[in-house]
Amino acid sequence: MTRKRVAILISGRGSNMRALIEAARAPGYPAEIVLVISNVPDAAGLDDARAEGVAATVIDHRDFADRPSFENAIETQLRTAKIDLVCLAGFMRLLTAEFVGAWRDRILNIHPSLLPAFRGLDTHARALAAGVRFSGCTVHFVRAEMDAGPIIAQAVVPVRPDDDAARLAARVLSAEHQAYRTALALVASGRAQVEAERVIVADAVWPQSILLNPAE
Ligand code: GRF
Repeated sequence: MTRKRVAILISGRGSNMRALIEAARAPGYPAEIVLVISNVPDAAGLDDARAEGVAATVIDHRDFADRPSFENAIETQLRTAKIDLVCLAGFMRLLTAEFVGAWRDRILNIHPSLLPAFRGLDTHARALAAGVRFSGCTVHFVRAEMDAGPIIAQAVVPVRPDDDAARLAARVLSAEHQAYRTALALVASGRAQVEAERVIVADAVWPQSILLNPAE
């Protein structure tokens, strides 16, 4: 089995990054994490990546005159490392349509809501304000529009009556780690294909593409 070479782009804590690094250690996992890039120099995830033996580098967007030149620097790193797939994991920069187009169906993102509900920021506070009974997360292929693109995997968690945004965020985050591992495996193994802007999963059994988080 040829494992896909994956880069993870982060801006902060990097807990999803860690979940993917851990998943990729399992024998038979179809991807290897070979590079972490952060646009934030003191992102906590950088040290964690290095501690796990993964090359980690900073490309600070503030060092570049504009978005395309920032993305060119990223592109150079990705090419040098012969990257097949890019996982955005708490990466807080929008990517241009050109970059996204060049990597079409090869960039994954995780978002802490059940898309298409609650795109953008403050998802948990907005979910609570809306009174939804379930929330969760979505792993999707990236398109130029923010938090949009074919859905690869979703995980669902209950919203409890006494939740605040932090409690709900913690429950969703643990579901994120499961969903991202699953989604990357589906894509890296070639079992998830985009057809007419929907992801078709080959040999799909229900729990592979829709996860219910049993915790809590
Ligand atoms: C996650 O909630 C992710 O869904 C969102 O940003 C957060 C990043 O967390 N895009 P971490 O850095 O992976 O811990």
